[in-house]
Amino acid sequence: MPLRLTKTRLLGVAALAALVAGALPAVTAAATSSPTITKDLFGTMPDGTKVWRYTLSDSAIRVKIITYGGIVQQLDAPDRHGHRANVVLGFPKLDDYVAKNNPGPYFGALIGRYGNRIAKGTFTLDGTTYHLPLNNNGNTLHGGPKGFDTKVWTATEVKSKNAVGVRLEYTSPDGDMNYPGTLKTAVTYTLSGKSLRLDYRATTDKATIVNLTNHSYFNLAGEGSGGIYDHRLRLNASRYTPVDSTLIPTGQLAPVAGTPMDFTKATPIGARIRDGFQQLAYGQGYDHNWVLNGSGFRLAAEVGEPTSGRVLKIYTDQPGIQFYSGNFLDGTLYGTSGRQYRQGDGFALETQHFPDSPNHSNFPSTVLRPGQTYRTSTVWSFSAR
Ligand code: BGC
Repeated sequence: MPLRLTKTRLLGVAALAALVAGALPAVTAAATSSPTITKDLFGTMPDGTKVWRYTLSDSAIRVKIITYGGIVQQLDAPDRHGHRANVVLGFPKLDDYVAKNNPGPYFGALIGRYGNRIAKGTFTLDGTTYHLPLNNNGNTLHGGPKGFDTKVWTATEVKSKNAVGVRLEYTSPDGDMNYPGTLKTAVTYTLSGKSLRLDYRATTDKATIVNLTNHSYFNLAGEGSGGIYDHRLRLNASRYTPVDSTLIPTGQLAPVAGTPMDFTKATPIGARIRDGFQQLAYGQGYDHNWVLNGSGFRLAAEVGEPTSGRVLKIYTDQPGIQFYSGNFLDGTLYGTSGRQYRQGDGFALETQHFPDSPNHSNFPSTVLRPGQTYRTSTVWSFSAR
């Protein structure tokens, strides 16, 4: 299956805006408020490059994005009483991101060129075999050791009547981490009402593979407040892609029915996490790709936190979503507010093509060719009940 091409995706983005406006009546109220964007210096890279932090604010939501890794550094969302809390895990300073985020948790970062794993870092495209640097148990994870999460992106502010955004651009040279082709990449974060939209675009000058995502960890009770096992998760997915002991997909699309992987009805994340299911033992918890039902732009996931009432809904046009329950957080990192992060203190929901797709002909293709435009969009919508 070819990646989505320009005309169809343009329609998709228009439909997306309509869908989100329709799904969230509160968003329309934002038409009367004026979203704002400000910028401050977040830090300086060892080579002297300045890293900027953009703050996008609307009446309810405030999100801070840094040009290093395109990282969502902070995201404040209201609870059912209107009290805001920062619902994403992160660090307070640039030095922490540079020193601890990779290798490490990839808090909030844009991931490229290939989200999740490629078995043995090897794939064959048009008869040529490519070997990527290995950085995860003999496999390549999240693009390789110097992925897009480690780059300083060029930022441009985007403003319209009801939305503010920041467009981030990065050109990955031919041969970067051994991937073929010059990949021109743009990711735009747009805040409108209570929704943050992520639009990804890329073009290449040689056939290549691409699978971009964002690696934010959420805790809807507030970053640093403890575990997320009581959050209730619903996934719009009847199947998932089982993995081997190194978290590489076996190639099967297995039904979730009758297993702890079944989130078709809202279920606390922790309810079955220690059930002794082999797949959960491999990842020390949930760390799998779910095969989203349907196609086109649609609801992928809904998470609710019972105490605060905060709800996150994720919409995407992607075929899969990685649900990772923060299993490898081990207490060694201290986050934005100085509190220790332990196992299960945040969860990630990464919209994506399936891991290791280049090595599975039955998975949707991640090949991008010259003349095509890679286009995908994801929306995070916040509410409270
Ligand atoms: C992966 C995990 C990994 C985490 C942080 C997730 O997307 O599936 O296995 O530990 O990212 O790198």
